[in-house]
Amino acid sequence: MSSLNRYWSVVPAAGVGSRMAAAVPKQYLHLHGKTVIEHTLSRLCNHPQMSGVVVSISAGDEHWQQLDLSSHNNIHVATGGVERCHSVLNGLQLLSGFADENDWVMVHDAARPCIHHDDLSHMIDVLKDHPVGGLLGLPMADTMKRSNAAGEVLETVSRENLWRALTPQMFRLGQLQQALQVALADAFLVTDDASAIEYIGLKPRLIAGRGDNIKITRPEDLSLAEMYLAQQEKS
Ligand code: CTP
Ligand code: MG
Repeated sequence: MSSLNRYWSVVPAAGVGSRMAAAVPKQYLHLHGKTVIEHTLSRLCNHPQMSGVVVSISAGDEHWQQLDLSSHNNIHVATGGVERCHSVLNGLQLLSGFADENDWVMVHDAARPCIHHDDLSHMIDVLKDHPVGGLLGLPMADTMKRSNAAGEVLETVSRENLWRALTPQMFRLGQLQQALQVALADAFLVTDDASAIEYIGLKPRLIAGRGDNIKITRPEDLSLAEMYLAQQEKS
């Protein structure tokens, strides 16, 4: 049964990168020999079990067409939306034109260029026969505090069973599309895909991922990603 599974990837890449405060959206910054988005897409495309990739690009984007990858056979372009969840939904809608509703989709942020093939393979391995799907995560390492609006500590929150949600997040195409549509219809602008699946009452499975799968968010993340990419090349 699981040998019949097909895997696709949808990559939201239509953000402006406001926290990065660079001259171009962060997915187009140069890092270890190529742009952030080229690292991300080539890692997904080159995984042996990946059937194809859909990338959501902003309507006014002038950078995408300049990349060689924009003419890649196995990378299809959807239009980005106002929030990440709209960009993902647009990508899923394009994908549903040529994929089956029961196919698996890995949604992965363009801003996570260090995604390792081992994480993708591990995720497929754990989830291939799972009824819902799941996401990569990292168990919290620091002591957690909840504050009031003035920044005063109200309580120390136990970090037991507390995770940071990463991507990829992997669900069945039809079910994720439906879940996002339900959330958006209720004006719930989910910040990740698992939140939509949770919203329709299902329980995504958390899978411990690699710590080097960082999201480039602030300027200091670039040199960290540079170091991880160099390290991965050596191992
Ligand atoms: N994204 C998207 N469409 C949007 C907003 C975000 O496709 N309307 C994508 C980003 O390009 C990124 C991923 O979603 O690959 C995660 O979002 P985030 O890290 O928040 O990126 P930005 O929104 O670009 O950054 P910021 O929030 O600092 O502006
Ligand atoms: Mg954002």
